[in-house]
Amino acid sequence: MEKVALVTGSSSGIGFETALALARENYFTFASMRNTNKAEKIQEIAKKENLNLEVIELDVDKEESIKSAVKKIQEKKGRIDVLVNNAGYGHFGCVEDVTMDDLRAQFETNFFGVVRLIQEIAPTMRKQGSGIIVNVSSVAGRIGFPATPAYISSKFALEGLSECMRYELSPFGVKTIIIEPGVIKTNFFSSMKVTKAKQDSPYKEITEKVMNAVKMMSEMGTPPDEVAKTIVNAIKTEDPLPRYIVGSDASMFLEAKKMKTDIEFENYLKKELFT
Ligand SMILES: NC(=O)c1ccc[n+]([C@@H]2O[C@H](COP(=O)([O-])OP(=O)(O)OC[C@H]3O[C@@H](n4cnc5c(N)ncnc54)[C@H](OP(=O)(O)O)[C@@H]3O)[C@@H](O)[C@H]2O)c1
Repeated sequence: MEKVALVTGSSSGIGFETALALARENYFTFASMRNTNKAEKIQEIAKKENLNLEVIELDVDKEESIKSAVKKIQEKKGRIDVLVNNAGYGHFGCVEDVTMDDLRAQFETNFFGVVRLIQEIAPTMRKQGSGIIVNVSSVAGRIGFPATPAYISSKFALEGLSECMRYELSPFGVKTIIIEPGVIKTNFFSSMKVTKAKQDSPYKEITEKVMNAVKMMSEMGTPPDEVAKTIVNAIKTEDPLPRYIVGSDASMFLEAKKMKTDIEFENYLKKELFT
């Protein structure tokens, strides 16, 4: 039976590579993006490689857009086997500087967008008695850093949601996994939104320090196809693990977090990242 996959945020980076990787594994893949004017490159590759890949419009911030995309998939294929919740962006700004609108917008995409998709698609997977939901979190879903509380909080929320889902959906044959990439070389860092620190903000220095550190790290990031490979391998596994870490930086930080006390880890991170 033909298996069907839906990937959000396929216009670039991890979503782009994951949609192609799934299509190459013979999933009929709906590569969704909010702006289909960005579809040319993925369509060109799909055509060249003769892949079963179709671009559809989907903005995770908009309920109507999600409903309409899922309806199209249902009408065309009548099933969904894999949902990759990948669409997301980052936000710089310390907690006193960040506006409530910025914070809400960050959660709208990185968290509520995921919940909307799950609510729309889980009923189909439950009825099928099978399916896998892949939530692209981050090392930032388990480790806090300064100057990015909006992003970090949205990914911590996504981790909590994913843990709950595993208990709720597994009795119906629906699996949930979390992907935790470290720094990946994509458009992510150049697309990050920035709350302009207030003129007299005491956080100007730390915000700039973190932005510079992140920029430097992004140049040495892991290629996005590594994340795509991890996702494809995980969904092909009979009993996938709850979490998959991608990148040696992510492994290093998460291993240190596991081995150290909270205070030891905080001091380690300050030394590693900000001195
Ligand atoms: N890069 C990293 O270092 C890294 C590390 C850990 C986790 N991640 C996570 O990986 C995921 C993908 O990021 P990436 O690194 O591949 O960055 P990217 O190249 O910037 O891709 C982000 C994708 O999300 C899409 N998107 C943003 N808001 C959307 C919305 N409202 N509706 C639909 N699509 C939307 C973007 O679409 P447009 O092209 O229209 O903007 C783009 O396709 C994100 O969830 C991110 O948090 C990234």
